[in-house]
Order: sequence, then C-alpha cells, then structure tokens
Amino acid sequence: MASEVQSFDVVIIGGGPGGYATALYGASAGLSIALVEKDKVGGTCLHRGCVPAKEFLETAHVRRTIAHSSDFGVNVADVTVDFSVSQSRKNEVVDVLFKGVSGLLKGRKVTVFSGLATVLADGTVSVVDGADAGVTLAGAHVVLASGSIPRTIPGFDVTGSLIVTSDEFLDLTTLPSSAVVIGGGAIGCEFASMLADMGSHVTILEGLPSILTGCDTEVAGVVQRAFKKRGIEIRTSAQVTGHTPNEAGTRTAVHVDGGDDVEVDMVVVSVGRAPRTEGLLAEGTGVEVNERGFVVTDSLMRTANPKIFAVGDIVAGTPQLAHVAFAEAIVVIKSILGESPLPVDYDRVPWAIYSNPEVAFCGLTEAAAKERGYDVVVKKDPFGGNSRARIIGDTDGVVKIIAEKRPDGTAGQLLGVHMAGPWVTEQLGAGYFAVNWEATAEEAALLIQPHPSLSETFGETLLALAGRGLHVG
Ligand code: NAI
Repeated sequence: MASEVQSFDVVIIGGGPGGYATALYGASAGLSIALVEKDKVGGTCLHRGCVPAKEFLETAHVRRTIAHSSDFGVNVADVTVDFSVSQSRKNEVVDVLFKGVSGLLKGRKVTVFSGLATVLADGTVSVVDGADAGVTLAGAHVVLASGSIPRTIPGFDVTGSLIVTSDEFLDLTTLPSSAVVIGGGAIGCEFASMLADMGSHVTILEGLPSILTGCDTEVAGVVQRAFKKRGIEIRTSAQVTGHTPNEAGTRTAVHVDGGDDVEVDMVVVSVGRAPRTEGLLAEGTGVEVNERGFVVTDSLMRTANPKIFAVGDIVAGTPQLAHVAFAEAIVVIKSILGESPLPVDYDRVPWAIYSNPEVAFCGLTEAAAKERGYDVVVKKDPFGGNSRARIIGDTDGVVKIIAEKRPDGTAGQLLGVHMAGPWVTEQLGAGYFAVNWEATAEEAALLIQPHPSLSETFGETLLALAGRGLHVG
C-alpha cells in the first residue's frame, strides 16, 4: 500500500459532471488538480443517467416515426425491434463520450486517481479502496462531487429484473411487455414515454395528485393528456404498499392502497435520487450534512469548512441536473481564483425533460409567481396552429409565458417560459436567454423567429404578451 502524500491546488472527489467540470475548468485556469473516481469519469449522467436515457428515448422516437410513416405515404412493412442493438448503440455513444472526457482530463493534465475517497478531519483526502488505495491527497481546496444514487422504497427491493431503478433499466437488452412506473417525475415520465413508444403497456403510479409536480400545471396537463392518448395509464394520489411476484418471479402484482392491483412484467422505481455521501466524510471535517444526507453549502458552493466546496447532486436544496453541476463547478473555480463569481440562480436554470411530448422550462411557473406575490400577465399558444408542427405531424403542446404585470396592466419583465411539445428541449434556449437577461415582453417580442419553424410559437406568445399578437389573441 502506498503511503505518500501528494499535494494539489484542488482535490476533487467524484468524476461526474460536477467533478469533471470543476477539474477541466480549474485546469484551464492553471490550477493543479487531482480527481478521485471510484468507477468511470462521466458519472451518472454519462453512464447511468442523462445520456443513456436520451439514447433510448431516441430509439423510441425512431420507432414512433416509422409507426406514423404511412401518414406521409411512406409504407414500411414488418417493423421489429431488436433492443439489444439499441443497447449496443447506446454503449457505443457512451463509450465515445467517455473517451472524450477521459481525453480532455488527460490533455489538461488532471491527475485521476482510481478509488473511493474519504475526507479526513484534517481536510486531507484518503483513497481507501480501488487501484489507488493508500494514496493521501492534500489539497488547498477540496471539492465534494460524489453525486447521487436512485432512492428506493420499502416493499420494492431491487432485483435487477422484476424490480429495477434507472441503473438497471438502462442496461436492459429486452423490454417488458408491461410495466409499472412508480413516481411520475422526470425519470418516471421519460421511461414511461419510452416504454409506451416501444410497445409496452405502462401504468404510472404517482403518490402526489399530479405527475411532473415541479412543472407548470398546464405543461404537465399537456403531457398527462398526450400520455393517456397513447395508452399510458396514470394513477395519481396512488400509495403503493408492496408487491407479490408469481412463483417464477417473472411477473408481479403491485398493490395500491385502496385500489386494484396492477399486474406487470417489471416495476421501475423512479422516486427521486439520494445523495451519495456514505463514507465520504470522516468525523470532524466540519462539513454540515442535512437530515436527508445532502451537503449544505452557501450560494458560492462553500460548505461550513471554508476549504471544502460541494457541487452537483449532493448539494442540499438544488436541482439535480448535470448542467447545474457544470455551472456550480465554474462558481467554485472562480471562487478559488478570487474572481467573485455570481451564484447560480436556481430559480432560472433550464429544465429539459425528454418525454414525448418533451417539456422544457425556466423561471417561475404561474403558481410560483403568484405565491411569491407577483401580479402576472400570462399568454399561451398551442402548437396546433404552428405550420412546422403541422408539417412534422406533431402538434401536441403549448408555449406559456409568464410576465410581471405593470401598474398599467401591461406585461413587464419575463418571469418564466414553459413549453411542452416537439423539440422544446432544443427551443428553450431563446426563452432561457430572455428570462435570464431580465428582458421585458416588448424587448423579447422584437426578436424575429424563422418561418416556418417551431420557434414561431414562442415568438407569437411574446407578441401577444407585448400587447398585440399576429396569430394569438
Ligand atoms: P423526481 O423527484 O423528479 O420525481 C419523483 C416522483 O416520485 C415525484 O413525483 C414523487 O411525488 C413520486 N414519489 C415519491 N415517492 C413515491 C411513492 N412511494 N409512490 C409513488 N410516487 C412517489 O425524481 P426522479 O424522476 O426519480 O428524478 C431524480 C432526479 O433526477 C430529479 O431531481 C430530476 O430532476 C433529475 N432528472 C432530471 C431529468 C431531466 O431533467 N430530463 C431526467 C432524469 C432525472
């Protein structure tokens, strides 16, 4: 076992988006960086989250396109799905990106250690497991970026085949013919949508009164209606109490409090993600961890120990999104460099959910704006009147924009842009800019959208908000 102490400007624990972004950005600024990763750099996002999930959703998109190709006069016979090919394609995509991240780290001279790291009371980092076990790292600054793991619920022990979380789901080579998805959040809706498009019968069991609770209610309503139209059953305010597998363990009956059982081939548990902080911090580091295990930071990502920062999914009270972790990484490095960064404005970060229909938003929902005491002006435009949406045959959706109401009743500063519909995850950029630039409705409405394009629905909504729409009242 090695026993040397190696010193760096920054020692990072975890090589996911939060950790590797801190490393890359810090190395670009000339800092010496050590990164400890127990598995593969890229983290959950690249290996067990965003990227593989979107790859499967793209598979679903291809199948859906073929299923509707006869609407365009393109007839395709005998569509079959070999999901093992989708799985291989996904692995290839992930592998290329993994090599890309590894290459970037190497190119910027980040020293990557392999193993599990613990922060000791004196602030040094000890690698306690893995190929580099025994190494001790001393950093002028330490960044905790150990990420999160799927949360599970009592009565649904993960078996890897009958009961799965996103971790196991993303490694499947065949899809179930029927599935219960427990939890109608971002992961639940993406998986339910993908399974339904691939031909599975899906039931979502959501504990709260609606799915996608963080979204604007009208946007969530669009998804709910589109899902129902595609045969996805949605049971809200549903409390699952357990399940009873058949003898062969190939099917199970999911029990719902006060309701009928749902018999399926697979149960996907998507009820949130828990912080991965076990073993991360020895006694006496001074880092505050809340009752749910998340690390508490100030707005500049500093923990209660001034030399230790945290970024990404382990941070308390912040969205668990890769791009938020990227932004936090930049804040950390700028803080270390004394460049007085602006904190991440969590109210205005972009959200993108890749279900069919897609959802994308930033800023306050109508309800949140009202709760905060704003008088609001709200305009919305459905995609049904958009020529490009008609051309591509994908018209389910809406753009809804919320602005602060001025004393004269007109719309002032934009507070939130909320979208559901075709390719909205790619369209949100303009809305994100407008909200974060603190543009008014008139300012944003001056921008011209190309015709025919899906983005015209955003432009039309802005025009209406500014007082006079062309096609929207
Ligand atoms: P989530 O917190 O978004 O949704 C979990 C849902 O499960 C909630 O609606 C909750 O009410 C429900 N739930 C909790 N316990 C339940 C129970 N016992 N029975 C029935 N329903 C129950 O968590 P999710 O979807 O697992 O995602 C985890 C994190 O990853 C989230 O922070 C999410 O934002 C992020 N993520 C974001 C994506 C995106 O933006 N495209 C994609 C995937 C994940």
